[in-house]
Amino acid sequence: MRIDVVTIFPQMFSGPLDVSLIKRARAAGLAKINIYNLRDFTADRHQTVDDRPYGGGAGMIFKPEPVYRAIKYLSRNKIRPANRRIIYLSPQGRVFNQSIARRLAKYQQLILICGHYEGVDERVLDWVDEEISIGDYVLTGGELPALVLIDCVVRQIPGVVAKKESVQNDSFSQEYLLDWPQYTRPPVYQGRKVPAVLLSGNHQKIEEWRRQEAIRATRKKRPDLYRQWLERKKKC
Ligand SMILES: C[S@@+](CC[C@H](N)C(=O)[O-])C[C@H]1O[C@@H](n2cnc3c(N)ncnc32)[C@H](O)[C@@H]1O
Repeated sequence: MRIDVVTIFPQMFSGPLDVSLIKRARAAGLAKINIYNLRDFTADRHQTVDDRPYGGGAGMIFKPEPVYRAIKYLSRNKIRPANRRIIYLSPQGRVFNQSIARRLAKYQQLILICGHYEGVDERVLDWVDEEISIGDYVLTGGELPALVLIDCVVRQIPGVVAKKESVQNDSFSQEYLLDWPQYTRPPVYQGRKVPAVLLSGNHQKIEEWRRQEAIRATRKKRPDLYRQWLERKKKC
């Protein structure tokens, strides 16, 4: 998979993309991540990316031309349009979740447009396939949302997480339940014991316990997800 990011702050990406799992995925060639400076797609001497909004009001917005040129440039390759997804990170978009990440991981190329200031000229939305938000709050720019999306999508690429069960068992994966509680050594700490079943060596019992605990955790921590799970179960 290839992920191309368009931003006015490329420096925000060094660090998060150079450590841990993402670093390994890039080194193994499983995820090719390129960061582009929107200013490189401007045509004037000052590399202007923003301008005042028509009608007045506070703040500046991205001009349409550099964004259009960036999208055109990054779409000029052999990847079929159906295998490419152009995304504008926006608080007005669909709220990101695990199933969106799984869906996006199937594309060959993602182009991520990071807004800044008051956002982008509305015409930019005609050239993007979807708007994605990382939650109902407003951040200064689309860079942190892009990093969140990249991290989550790259985890879904086959081969990135060495044991595929890790991803399959993550929260929001199995039946959209939360993950079950996990314990490691020592078996007793500060008087608190690891549940006996986990030390029993009985794999069937452990599986059953984990499923029940995943249901219990979901019911307690995310009653909204639990209700959806119950609904889906009823329909099956
Ligand atoms: C200050 S925000 C602009 C918000 C815009 N005036 C509005 O209210 O919809 C600047 C940029 O940050 C990004 N951004 C802010 N919050 C976001 C969120 N929750 N999810 C995704 N992107 C976000 C977008 O790219 C946006 O263009």
